[in-house]
Amino acid sequence: MNKPLLNSVAAMDAAHQIHPHTNLRKHLETGPNELLVRGEGIQVFDETGKGYIEGAAALWCSSLGFGNARLAEVAKQAITDLGYYHNFRGSGTPQAAQLCSKLADIAPDGMDKILLQSSGTEANDTALKLVWYYWDAMGAPQRRKIISRHEGYHGTGTLTSCLTGKVKFHEGYGLPFSEFHYVTQPYYYRKAEEGESEQEFSTRLANEIEELILREGPETVAAFWAEPVMGSGGAITPPAGYFEKVQAVLDKYGVLFVADEVICGFARTGEMWGSQTYGIKPDLICCAKALSAAVIPISAVIVGERVFEGMMAQSDKRGSFTHGYTYSGHPVACAVAHEVLTIYEEMDLVAHVKSLESAFLGGFKALEDHPLVGNIDGVGLIGALEVVADKKTRAIHDPALAVMPMLDRLTRKHGLITRLIGNRIALAPPQIITEAEVGEMFTRLKAALDEAHAAL
Ligand SMILES: Cc1ncc(COP(=O)(O)O)c(C=O)c1O
Repeated sequence: MNKPLLNSVAAMDAAHQIHPHTNLRKHLETGPNELLVRGEGIQVFDETGKGYIEGAAALWCSSLGFGNARLAEVAKQAITDLGYYHNFRGSGTPQAAQLCSKLADIAPDGMDKILLQSSGTEANDTALKLVWYYWDAMGAPQRRKIISRHEGYHGTGTLTSCLTGKVKFHEGYGLPFSEFHYVTQPYYYRKAEEGESEQEFSTRLANEIEELILREGPETVAAFWAEPVMGSGGAITPPAGYFEKVQAVLDKYGVLFVADEVICGFARTGEMWGSQTYGIKPDLICCAKALSAAVIPISAVIVGERVFEGMMAQSDKRGSFTHGYTYSGHPVACAVAHEVLTIYEEMDLVAHVKSLESAFLGGFKALEDHPLVGNIDGVGLIGALEVVADKKTRAIHDPALAVMPMLDRLTRKHGLITRLIGNRIALAPPQIITEAEVGEMFTRLKAALDEAHAAL
């Protein structure tokens, strides 16, 4: 593009910014969607001043909403005090120590060691290294194989793309590597067989995992990877009994359980951890996003006793733990995350989310009979509805009708941003949302559904 033409932010963006998960050729031509310039509470505002309820907390992450001056002050102070220091070779900062201590306090029992990182991808990538490191320490380096679920999402780094069970993240990159194996998405509405109960479906899926472990050889299987509620897979809650049955299979063969709580952590599902909502006993937890209310990049791997023992054995053998990034434990990010956890305490985050759950799920329930809605699903403050052309046959619309892009336009027109995943509309609003705002969010969603229905 001709440089003098770059006189607007949109033109600069179109000409120079490579956007993730975006058609690059189209973006060169059309430029960005609305540019968001400020936020307040659960709303974001574009250049024209139009406000939108961020029904998906941006990328499931802005737990405290937008434009938080208290967090800005904390970041300013941490930059003024020191700005940066690392945590290599036993160095440290009070901010990192205090954050780890606070996170350990709210971590599930038996998990009190924290390895700080900077993103959800880094946390998952690091957890994968820890799994392999653990098995090496146990004298079983052949335990390399990883089981994750089709449509699960764990990031887009080289190895985390392999954990991610979405084919589109593998294609074109020569991935996944041979260690990675995928099992059925626990998506009752679409994957259950005719007449199968949720419990029966869960049993079948747990059996599938057991058969895979036996086929590959239990002595070669390292870990199972799962989000308690699948986020980018469609905001899909597990069917009744699923994790209980899966955990029993993993325990039988000594396979580690890694819970990716990058979305589910910090009360998204109504308990502090999705693992607690579903009775999972993970060996490692990955968390990010709401750890800092997403205002600054930071993530963590919460390490359980079993894996930490292995890591210490490696230190004994090799002299040190050979893993770390320049920005892991960044004091500014740690100070902000510590303040975020303090705010969660003050607002009694878990109780707050629990108090809103029935209004939130009730909002979906009220849409269940809508002619465009085939399925509703949710827990805590995460849920989705599935858009169908025929409620009875569950058939979806002809892609030529572009119903989902239409719904995206219409929800935005009505001042609501949602997360579209295939033919599902997911909501996971900032956890600071109030009951009245939950009501307003569903009013806007219904207006968009009604308008789409009238247009079809
Ligand atoms: C469950 C889950 N794991 C991992 C990630 C990757 O996190 P990041 O984008 O911070 O690398 C995401 C991102 O949405 C996620 O939803």
